[in-house]
Amino acid sequence: MTQKTERKPVFWIGANWKMTKTRSEAEAYLSALLGAYRRSAESNLRLFVAPPYTLLAQARAHLAGSDVILAAQDVHHLDYGSATGSISPPMLTDQGVSLVILGHSERRASKLDDDESVGRKVKSALEHQLTALICVGENKNERDDVNAEICLRRQIKGALSLITNEKLRDEAQKRLLFAYEPVWAIGDGATPAEPDYVAKRHQLIKNLTREYLGVFSPCLYGGSVNFNNCHHFARHELINGLLIGRASWDASALGAIIERIRASSCSEQS
Ligand code: PGA
Repeated sequence: MTQKTERKPVFWIGANWKMTKTRSEAEAYLSALLGAYRRSAESNLRLFVAPPYTLLAQARAHLAGSDVILAAQDVHHLDYGSATGSISPPMLTDQGVSLVILGHSERRASKLDDDESVGRKVKSALEHQLTALICVGENKNERDDVNAEICLRRQIKGALSLITNEKLRDEAQKRLLFAYEPVWAIGDGATPAEPDYVAKRHQLIKNLTREYLGVFSPCLYGGSVNFNNCHHFARHELINGLLIGRASWDASALGAIIERIRASSCSEQS
């Protein structure tokens, strides 16, 4: 099935801070970012930052009045209770968080998440009106078309397995984002995927969301995105945003990426 794309409505840029930054570093970063980032009214860019839990309250205060979206890097599926070390959806919304990254490959690789746990978290996030950004992607042994499809189908099916009633399906149609992050493209020493390769996987992911949810969900790309390659991804009509790790950890580097994407023709279309 081929998606009919008229225009690119929104282009997401996400800064995944991962396990970086102290309070003073966060303060300096957010001041610099807000200095560099001004979203014009007509812009279709949506910027989010995902600090570690320890910095959410501070980031919320700093970002108040801006249109930068506050995101978290994970959430527990339960609202409350005996889950040492975990943070619940109501705790996130209480901190002003409106988007949560789920199923990141670094968590899957450490056995902190699997397809089932991601499914539980997606359901819970949607029930709490959080936008869920579901990370999926094949590892280097699954890099061919057949195995990548098996992997992506399994991960997406798992992530959507508890969307079992009309209300949740409705939320999922409005509030789900995917990030295609091939494991082999993420982190130190990795090489980014080529935009055409990414677009092929994005088409598959969108076709799968159409099959399971009845809509082509937006899909971001993540994996070694940087200043030199960001605009190539942004120009591709099937790529609805970028989830950026290392290259987003410095505010001026992120600001330069945003400007480059803004300048690329597709980003200001709508
Ligand atoms: P990277 O990480 O940009 O440092 O490769 C991306 C991600 O893990 O989301």
